[in-house]
Amino acid sequence: MLNKKVEDICNRQVEREGYSSNLYLAMASWAENNGLPGIADWLYAQAEEERIHFLKFIRYINERGGTAVLPAFKKPPVGFKNTEELFKEVLKHEEYITASINEIVHVTLQEKDYNTHNFLQWFVTEQVEEEASVRTVLDKLKLVGPANLYIFDRDILSLRKPSATAGGTAQA
Ligand SMILES: [Fe+2]
Ligand SMILES: [Fe+2]
Repeated sequence: MLNKKVEDICNRQVEREGYSSNLYLAMASWAENNGLPGIADWLYAQAEEERIHFLKFIRYINERGGTAVLPAFKKPPVGFKNTEELFKEVLKHEEYITASINEIVHVTLQEKDYNTHNFLQWFVTEQVEEEASVRTVLDKLKLVGPANLYIFDRDILSLRKPSATAGGTAQA
């Protein structure tokens, strides 16, 4: 049985993972409307992965006798300055999520909830990959330069792990 403190902070993460999915959907939509179908596909796949994270938290809370609470989400931004700024925002968001996961890990140790601590290890590993993959995208983007966005957009999906291009289900 989850204690209240762990349940509450896991529910906080339900909101954050769900918002992540919506944020990347908003970004995908922007890319799609700005002639960047490859970047849009990368972001749509990313949004699918976040939805899986969202579901993982909901189901874990319920499995442990808690109550997952479905939140209202704040509205993600509609417009983005350019591709580089967009991916810088993705990196910033992933760093925020990493810090958020680490906070939950800290609470589980304080509360001696080793089951939830174990559940979180998947997310701890995932966040290392998430940050690294966005840093790779930003590095490549700097390499090709803003004048070669066509090439970057054509090739960006090759930077994703094979499982992730199929919607991330292999990671569930
Ligand atoms: Fe996530
Ligand atoms: Fe993520």
